[in-house]
Amino acid sequence: MYKQIGILTGGGDAPGLNAVIRAVVRTAIGEFGMKCVGIEDSFEGILGETHTQKLTLKSVSGILPRGGTILGTRNRGSFVKNVNGVPVYPEMPIGEAIANLDILGIEALIVLGGEGTLGIAEQFHKRGFPVIGVPKTIDNDLAATEFTFGFMTAIDIATEALDRLHTTAASHDRVMILEVMGRNAGWIALHAGLAGSADIILIPEIPFSFDSIVRKVQSREAQGSRFTNIVVAEGAMEIGKSELYQDPGTQRLGGVGDYVRRKVEELTDKEARCVVLGHLQRGGSPNAFDRMLGTNFGACAVRALASGETGKMVALQAGTVVTVPLDQACTSIKRVQVDGQLVRTARDIGISFAAPKESRLADAVGIDPRFISAETSHPLHS
Ligand code: F6P
Repeated sequence: MYKQIGILTGGGDAPGLNAVIRAVVRTAIGEFGMKCVGIEDSFEGILGETHTQKLTLKSVSGILPRGGTILGTRNRGSFVKNVNGVPVYPEMPIGEAIANLDILGIEALIVLGGEGTLGIAEQFHKRGFPVIGVPKTIDNDLAATEFTFGFMTAIDIATEALDRLHTTAASHDRVMILEVMGRNAGWIALHAGLAGSADIILIPEIPFSFDSIVRKVQSREAQGSRFTNIVVAEGAMEIGKSELYQDPGTQRLGGVGDYVRRKVEELTDKEARCVVLGHLQRGGSPNAFDRMLGTNFGACAVRALASGETGKMVALQAGTVVTVPLDQACTSIKRVQVDGQLVRTARDIGISFAAPKESRLADAVGIDPRFISAETSHPLHS
């Protein structure tokens, strides 16, 4: 049994990180008699002059409902370089970090993060250092787990925003556009669009056409609804074009909502407004589901370490937390199936995805065939 373990948080924050930290500390100390050290600012805290804090039952008391992470986080650091889109892990910082962990008396790590952070965690495992990963992203786009914590809170926030935009859209007869997060996948836009009664949902998996957007706005007008609500994922793109970035040269997506607003005003006689929800989706208190999932992930991660597992990530599968190899966690992104049940349900209730031919998906121009699932024979899909 390990005498002392370390825990760190990496990548963008997500509501529920503190719930995981609290559960790790309570399980490690209370159930297994291990000590816990919090490593600050992701892996950077174990380089050079190390930054750590002793985690006790007292120090994690009261953090369950708190947003952010008490340990701090970093998006990019010294451990990974991007070489032509491929992550490369230089030897030097990992060697130094493992030596520092030894000096600190930390015998194993629990690493909370998305694909980037978990990719670094895997390098520690490959060099013989015991690691268990905990998946984290509000985008919910890691294939190995049904849900990541933070996602449900983000949907709640986006849904409330849509509810609020609804009343102002209706009062002014406007087209309101809400831009939400979702770099590679449209899960937040899809779920919030359904829960918040959007009329049009634009996601990266279904490139959109302005013809189709205009048709939807006009058909609503013809039926007496003089306003339209659109939710757009930041990674959504017009057919034949690529995603939009905030500044050329950076990897920060942004601007598609305003692009849609300008085109709608140009192509219709409607006034349009755009709201970018941004980091409001990541800040603040986690909802009950994310507190519960984070707590379960945290306790299960410690149990996995204590039973000798390493190089694994905890994951939710069929409602139960299991462990899967870390490399599975890092390599495969879960995207919305364009003929999946939720997309079908949305279409059935009249929501448009602004694809050129809404009713004949397989023929639709611009839809990448990789995102058409093999599940179409299921009765609920037919
Ligand atoms: O990965 C989660 C995410 O929320 C993405 O949807 C978004 O593009 C990104 O984080 C933004 O993160 P940051 O502003 O921290 O770079």
